[in-house]
Amino acid sequence: MLENIFTPEEISLIQTSFLKICESDCWEIHYNRLFELDPDAIKLFKGDIKDQQHRIMTMMKTVVEGLNNPQIIIPAVQELGKRHYEYNVREEDYELFKESLLYAIEKVLGDEFTPDLKSAWNKFYDVLADVMKSSKY
Ligand code: HEM
Repeated sequence: MLENIFTPEEISLIQTSFLKICESDCWEIHYNRLFELDPDAIKLFKGDIKDQQHRIMTMMKTVVEGLNNPQIIIPAVQELGKRHYEYNVREEDYELFKESLLYAIEKVLGDEFTPDLKSAWNKFYDVLADVMKSSKY
């Protein structure tokens, strides 16, 4: 069902920008911004935030690399969504998470975060979050 959800241009934009994002302190900026926007969110995290930065980067890498073949990565994203439900993450939490992630990407990419790239990342996050949110059980 998710075949052809992303255009080849969107996939290429996300994959190329992701390489740069991974070499930056994007994930640190993201969590700092998230906790600034929603100070209560930090209570959800039981482990070390540095480890968490590494975990989300690894997961995103798998998903980004699998974008040409979404049906293969969807089960892993569904499992991730179920675990998030168990971490007490609620649907509305995905909005501020998106805001802080896009804020961090914009910070590290600067002028390279073109409107096309921004719209590709918006769509990518929304698809990911929708699959996660609809996989509660
Ligand atoms: C696209 C969205 C997201 C991705 C890709 C993502 C990714 C991850 C990954 C890979 C982990 C490591 C543990 C595991 O695999 O189960 C994790 C844990 C976690 N995530 Fe997310 N996440 C996302 C959205 C969110 C949102 C919206 C929140 C809530 C603000 C959140 C809160 C947490 C918490 C509380 C943990 C457990 C960490 C701990 O207790 O130390 N995540 N996330």
